[in-house]
Amino acid sequence: MTRMSESLDERARAILLGNDRGGYTVPTAGLYPFQWNWDSAFAAWGFSTFDPDRAWTELETLFAHQWPDGMVPHIVFHRDDEGYFPGPTVWSTGRTPATSGISQPPVAATMARLVLAADPSHRERAAALVPKLLDWHRWWIRARVRDGVACIVHPWESGRDNAFDWDVGMANVDGSDVGPYQRRDTGHVDPSMRPTKAEYDRYLALVQFGRGIGWDQVRLADEGPFLMADPGVAFILIRACEDLAVLAAEVGADPGDAAEMAEGLRAGLDTLWNDARGHWDARDLRTDTFANVLSSGAWLCWLAGAGRPEMEAHLATAWGAVRHGLPTMDPAHPGFDARRYWRGPAWPFYNALVAMGLRDAGKDAEAERLRADTAALIRNGGFNEYFDPVEGTPCGGSDFTWTAAVWLTWAGRER
Ligand code: DGY
Repeated sequence: MTRMSESLDERARAILLGNDRGGYTVPTAGLYPFQWNWDSAFAAWGFSTFDPDRAWTELETLFAHQWPDGMVPHIVFHRDDEGYFPGPTVWSTGRTPATSGISQPPVAATMARLVLAADPSHRERAAALVPKLLDWHRWWIRARVRDGVACIVHPWESGRDNAFDWDVGMANVDGSDVGPYQRRDTGHVDPSMRPTKAEYDRYLALVQFGRGIGWDQVRLADEGPFLMADPGVAFILIRACEDLAVLAAEVGADPGDAAEMAEGLRAGLDTLWNDARGHWDARDLRTDTFANVLSSGAWLCWLAGAGRPEMEAHLATAWGAVRHGLPTMDPAHPGFDARRYWRGPAWPFYNALVAMGLRDAGKDAEAERLRADTAALIRNGGFNEYFDPVEGTPCGGSDFTWTAAVWLTWAGRER
């Protein structure tokens, strides 16, 4: 390992430790001051490289706030912080400590498996987590799988908040009556890198709907104004169910129906293939319309063993159009915006997930290219949330937990 990588390793560890609030890690100070579901799972993976005990604590803290119905919320508001909107009083879920009322992509089982692999001595802690993971995956099937495929009831549930994917579904959400509010994100980060006001109005309208029905999760999916099938969550959930079955076997825990869930979900995937355009695509279930955009969710197909030759061709084209890592949206699309959150930027943690799938599919050269691209972005720009894939400029929040985590586990580890 070079001196440069060593100092970046030290910096990455310092970021994880600096964002540790005692048992949980914030994604970044200021912009995201609480525990976020999938950020936290990546934090655990990062901690596993130097403090496996702390890695398990991260996952245990997250699952300590699982709802009785199995849902693991997307935010746990461990303590008050005026610097974030919408906070606990807006969500009003009645949980103590307060949480949001929706979930986030279920990467925890996949990360738990990696955390155990880093130090197999924590078998008991892994075994204790298995039934909770099972409950969460079953919650997805009950409360979010519609038409055979994993759906989201709010763009935030996809973790890819303002992806172009959601525009078709959001067109049916009325954001005109949400009342006055003050955003906080745009006080921390350049507004041109964040979702727009029109998007925020609709995000809030969806929160207000959930609150109005007492966060009944099945009603949210069946009656809410927004329901879209999400290739990103669909692929992640299949992979998570498979990883959970393996994890359970490794630690001698009951795998329940994890393998059957994966199989059932795989059978429903075909409805997400946009034949006219030749790629995986998000679909609005309210209007039965495809988003008609090649977007980041599709890049996770290999993670679920759902790669197709057309997707390999798209990958090569998208890569050819930008100089720095994988764009989160087709660079040839008129909506591509190199610096606006999920409408174009390259995200290091997301690259790590895509590369995991590529490697498992035997596409080692592509996986290695993604790693090298990501490492270069971090070396030149720092541990930012995301990067402009055309110019390589660091964007969004700085000193980001999951960027530091994937540096330690993947990007900074030349094979
Ligand atoms: C935000 O506030 O931007 C978050 O992504 C919502 O989870």
